[in-house]
Amino acid sequence: MSTTTSTSSGPFSAESYFATQPPPPTLEHDIDGVRAFLSRQAGKGRKVVLVTSGGTTVPLELNVVRFLDNFSAGTRGATSAEYFLQAGYAVIFMHRQFSLQPFSRHYSHSTNPFLDFLEIIGNDPTIGVTPSKKAHLLEILSAYKSVQNEGILHTLTFVTVNDYLWLLRAVSQELSTMKRKALYYLAAAVSDFFLPRRKMFEHKIQSGKGNLSIEMDQVPKILKPMVEEWSRDGYIVSFKLETDQTLLIPKARAALERYGHQVVIGNDLNRRKFEVVFISRKLPATPNAEGDRKAAGGEPDSGQASSTSVATWLRLDPQAVEQGKEIEEDIVAELVKRHQRWIEEESEI
Ligand code: PMT
Repeated sequence: MSTTTSTSSGPFSAESYFATQPPPPTLEHDIDGVRAFLSRQAGKGRKVVLVTSGGTTVPLELNVVRFLDNFSAGTRGATSAEYFLQAGYAVIFMHRQFSLQPFSRHYSHSTNPFLDFLEIIGNDPTIGVTPSKKAHLLEILSAYKSVQNEGILHTLTFVTVNDYLWLLRAVSQELSTMKRKALYYLAAAVSDFFLPRRKMFEHKIQSGKGNLSIEMDQVPKILKPMVEEWSRDGYIVSFKLETDQTLLIPKARAALERYGHQVVIGNDLNRRKFEVVFISRKLPATPNAEGDRKAAGGEPDSGQASSTSVATWLRLDPQAVEQGKEIEEDIVAELVKRHQRWIEEESEI
């Protein structure tokens, strides 16, 4: 079988995408929940971060049996969400269904199954926790319960790239009411290609008729309307994933220049747990600018000089990583500082 479909109407813009692709059925309900959450947080004067996390799928059939997926387990997003909560943020955690979540990520069923932490005690059996695991479990459980009691974590799920795009737009528009107190942390691994509804197979694609070729359309670049229309006052952080280290800074810098948001965090697939690079706009030249840049650990884009951006590397000692240090702790600490400066700048305008 050869199924080649092509777009006669040209690539999708964000506008034509939303005009032609159907919203997920739970969208309105999800947004009612976000609105109520935000009004509680605004009353308490909290800063709010939207964390997107995990990979999106691209279904091939309407009665979906097969889909294209993305590698992300949601580690970056789930881990970062915990550090944002620790820093006093309210968190909207928008994640791929069944990907890692804050707190429960420590007891992932595949790497650290929670049943292994429990013991059966006595003849009239009751359940206990393995003594060597108690301190860690108590720490995680206390943080989890305190976040629940304070009501500062709101969770949303997506599966397909279509769910993701509709949710992202709607949540961003709601969150824009928080003005500069809103931070957007886009760590999800979003598919660049999709099958528009009119090109999707209705039923399971049948084998036995030869090769299958499918031509997919490009997903519109969603950062553009996000920066220009949906979230104009927010502090927007996107991620750039590459597998070729030499492309990391040029591609991250190109994204910053193209979209004009606040920070692009570049990460290499195989080094992302111990090394990332922040690309942000250069501050206007002042007599102290060089000193400020050095104090912030920034350096010009070495070997790929840019007159407009600064590259700041965050690196962890591999030994520290082995001992449990997480690079997300440093990423979040740096962003909290930068976001605070961004909020304070507004009152100086
Ligand atoms: O979950 P882990 O296993 O811990 O992995 C974390 C991670 C490597 C997935 C994460 O750190 C990361 O890099 N996420 C972004 C991956 C990605 O989608 O990169 P990209 O080059 O395709 O997109 C770059 C940016 O453009 C993204 O921030 C996205 O918000 C944006 N984008 C993407 C697609 C699209 N159609 N429109 C967009 O605006």
